[in-house]
Amino acid sequence: MDFPPDLFARIVALRRDLHRRPELGFGEHDTMARISAELTALGLPHRTGVAGTGIVADLPGLSPGPRIALRADTDALPIQEQTGLPFASTVPGVMHACGHDGHSSALVGAAGLLVAAPPPHPVRLIWQPAEELGTGAPAMIEAGVLDGVDAIFGGHLDRTFEPGTLVVTDGPVNASTDTFHVELIGRQGHGARPHETIDAIVIGSLVVNALQTVVSRHVDPAQAAVVTVGRFDAGTAPNVIAGKAILEGTIRAQRPDVRARLKDSVRRVVQTVGALHGARAEFQMIDGTPPLVNPPFHTALAREAAVEVVGAEHVAVLRTANMGGEDFAWYLERVPGAYIRFGGMTPGENAPAHSGRFDFHEDALAYAARWYDRIARMGARLG
Ligand code: NI
Repeated sequence: MDFPPDLFARIVALRRDLHRRPELGFGEHDTMARISAELTALGLPHRTGVAGTGIVADLPGLSPGPRIALRADTDALPIQEQTGLPFASTVPGVMHACGHDGHSSALVGAAGLLVAAPPPHPVRLIWQPAEELGTGAPAMIEAGVLDGVDAIFGGHLDRTFEPGTLVVTDGPVNASTDTFHVELIGRQGHGARPHETIDAIVIGSLVVNALQTVVSRHVDPAQAAVVTVGRFDAGTAPNVIAGKAILEGTIRAQRPDVRARLKDSVRRVVQTVGALHGARAEFQMIDGTPPLVNPPFHTALAREAAVEVVGAEHVAVLRTANMGGEDFAWYLERVPGAYIRFGGMTPGENAPAHSGRFDFHEDALAYAARWYDRIARMGARLG
């Protein structure tokens, strides 16, 4: 693929700089400054400090018309890097282990292409903080980044596809991520006198087991769903019956109706199984990101742009459900658009995202930047 070599060198250098100095959600101050310096060098006016550490750049386009927004995320993860790369993280316990350094750099690449050859209609570029917290996108929406936006597009690196492959999928591509927190209150007592107690460990165990029936019996088996209890904390000594248990878990779904069903079922099962044995359940649901569902029309546009960049033979679809979350879903709740994947397979180990050995192929940056540039030129199609 043809890509300006100077610009490619710039975005690779930027990616490596960001990688060396990763910052956690809403703390992306150096990251923001570094990206801002690149945009200034390109002569692209922009605002920094949006929702704290976000950046927004508006390109007016050659004439007024529908406005397309492109979004990248900028934050890192609390993970110790173990890649041994020459540009590995210099911050102990913090690493770009999800490729957001790449997303940020690819969007700067797109900015370079769009400045060199202005798009027909207005385009907004968004660098968003705190995707990993799931709260960056809503903060940016609150700050008004979707005002006047007709469609929004974004993407994520994916180590399971070769660089030069773009993965465009209709319908669900990421799951909702809700968290539940339960405090089961029983009655503490002597380990030899269970009849005087309400055993929070036994009841908690029954709750965990009963929750396994939510997905198997309450959800259409053709729909993807997960209920995981990831934390069960109770008891103080071998001969003391626990009076309290803490259970925490995550609920994943790919469709809003399945999500609502799961949340409802989990709450009911916890409360009734607790009550069945005389325990009180204090139940708290913490809403996370919605499911990310690509609508057909905008997905078709995204695919068309992908075909222009890599050719139809290198445009793939996701074959299996991804039950991870992605806070881009918040944007798609407000305006239509699509979220794709950029093949980033490395010749090496290809460790998974969110691991200390994660890396991606830097050629992916050029393909991602080209795709952003192509989709940015499709404003007229939204009219
Ligand atoms: Ni990510």
